[in-house]
Amino acid sequence: MNATDRVCAYRRDRDWWQDAVVYQVYPRSFADSDGDGIGDLPGILDRLDYLVDLGIDAVWISPFYTSPLHDGGYDVADYRDVDERLGTLADIDSLIAGAHERGLRVIMDIVPNHTSSEHRWFREVLESEPGSPAWARYLIRPGKGADHREPPNNWRSVFHGPGWSRLVLADGTQTDYWYLHLFDDTQPDLDWTNPEVRAEFRDTLRFWFDRGVDGFRIDVAHGLVKDPDLPDMDYDAIPESEILGVAPHAPYWDQDGVHEIYREWREVADQYEPPRIFCGETWAPTAERLALYQRPDELHTSFNFDYLAAGWNLDRMRRSIDATVENHLKVGAPPTWVLSNHDVIRHATRFAPTPDGKAVTKPMVVDAARGLRRARAATVFMLGLPGSAYLYQGEELGLPEVFDLPDDARQDPVWIRSKGTDTGRDGCRVPIPWQGTAPSYGFGPGPDTWLPQPESWAELAVDVQDDVESSTLSLYRRALERRHAEDALGQGPMAWLDDAPDGVLALRRSTEEDGRPGVLVVINMSAELVHLPPSWGDDLLLESSDDVAVVNTDDGPHVVIGAETAVWLRG
Ligand code: GLC
Repeated sequence: MNATDRVCAYRRDRDWWQDAVVYQVYPRSFADSDGDGIGDLPGILDRLDYLVDLGIDAVWISPFYTSPLHDGGYDVADYRDVDERLGTLADIDSLIAGAHERGLRVIMDIVPNHTSSEHRWFREVLESEPGSPAWARYLIRPGKGADHREPPNNWRSVFHGPGWSRLVLADGTQTDYWYLHLFDDTQPDLDWTNPEVRAEFRDTLRFWFDRGVDGFRIDVAHGLVKDPDLPDMDYDAIPESEILGVAPHAPYWDQDGVHEIYREWREVADQYEPPRIFCGETWAPTAERLALYQRPDELHTSFNFDYLAAGWNLDRMRRSIDATVENHLKVGAPPTWVLSNHDVIRHATRFAPTPDGKAVTKPMVVDAARGLRRARAATVFMLGLPGSAYLYQGEELGLPEVFDLPDDARQDPVWIRSKGTDTGRDGCRVPIPWQGTAPSYGFGPGPDTWLPQPESWAELAVDVQDDVESSTLSLYRRALERRHAEDALGQGPMAWLDDAPDGVLALRRSTEEDGRPGVLVVINMSAELVHLPPSWGDDLLLESSDDVAVVNTDDGPHVVIGAETAVWLRG
């Protein structure tokens, strides 16, 4: 038996999170209730019925805590309050209640690697003496060289530039010390060896669990623990592309000590009824290392970025699925799948063909129609994989990445710190179009949007796609409805079909009860039309494009699918 025939038998029980479809809301860009151009919590509440109609199981809301918004809210000034531009604690209570009434779960985002420099803890640092207990909550070290003018080591920020900044006290005194910030200099890294930091975050989890939150996505889950010696990083040994992402063996990523933190968190989550859940934003160098975070006493799930990074590439996609399933089996956890989020180029653009066949990684003119066609196929295929799946707001409308934002509109610290050499992530965060002819396309009551929307988005608005069978929105609704209707999808086992034609990936999903018909999940990644084997049948359940037909031959009927198209078949 090769790895691909192995049955995916992760099914410990039937907890909701094991096969949930989770929809990510980036609150600033989802829906604005008060016309200030920034999306807010009441805006999300107003749109809950849209999410129910879409067919998702849970909503993950990116941070809405009090924040100076230097990194879109991933710079938290108060973990137990709501930013006034986004709402109030009463609004989040209403939103949780409204979601639960409709059968939707609510996942929040916790940011434990760093606080905002406006958090009371960092303010205390700036008002106290070196060596004070306030300093011990952050990674603050004396500088090197004459007058301590050099940072403690060579670590770089994920957002470009140095990873350390010199500490200047509130009264303007320049100290001999530097603080670590793996992200923006307004995001100082916490010292997770400090028991006070650990206790504070466990209390914060309880604060929100007590309010009814069903779980947390953990920001930079792999980054909390640093090698205590703070050794220099050998940046020459890794490709440029990895410096900002998962640098394997970096002394600040995926350190063994991080697991102990999640064991403590799991104890907190398990004290609730029903138990609360975690999904880690966990970048690990291998699928094997990633699966360690999903051991039974740690996180329930983690994002599978290897799959996201596999791109429109059949071999890489299959390898990623195999490695994911195999390693998750070892720890008895369900895999997760994701194609888009608020940090990456939207997959309708990322998958567009390029001259060298590689994924779109920077602004360029792309064949948007081909990109969308591939994206629709990739999503249909992904939703047929075992485990849970994450969708990012707007992908159900087929929104492309916005590459041509005016420079003065951009807000991502990546853009600012790279001095304009890296356009950053604003292009996937443009406010959602709800109504084709309204000002701000219905994002808010007035014309304001914190990032400008392209004119072409009028045609992609929700009300324009609503009743159109061929629209991307209708496709997502059909796919999610069908996924819920089929027992074999979500939690059942999977096996590859080895008689797939060239350019095609196909797997069979079945229930665990012998003899029950399952679902064949098929994607044609080639640029050619393909004939599927007659033995696969002709009972079509879902198609990502109109380019699908059943033909009759002497061998019986079989399905023909067009280029870059995915289908689900009964079988
Ligand atoms: C995560 C978030 C990203 C944020 C960063 C720093 O990667 O997804 O948006 O900028 O962490 O918190």
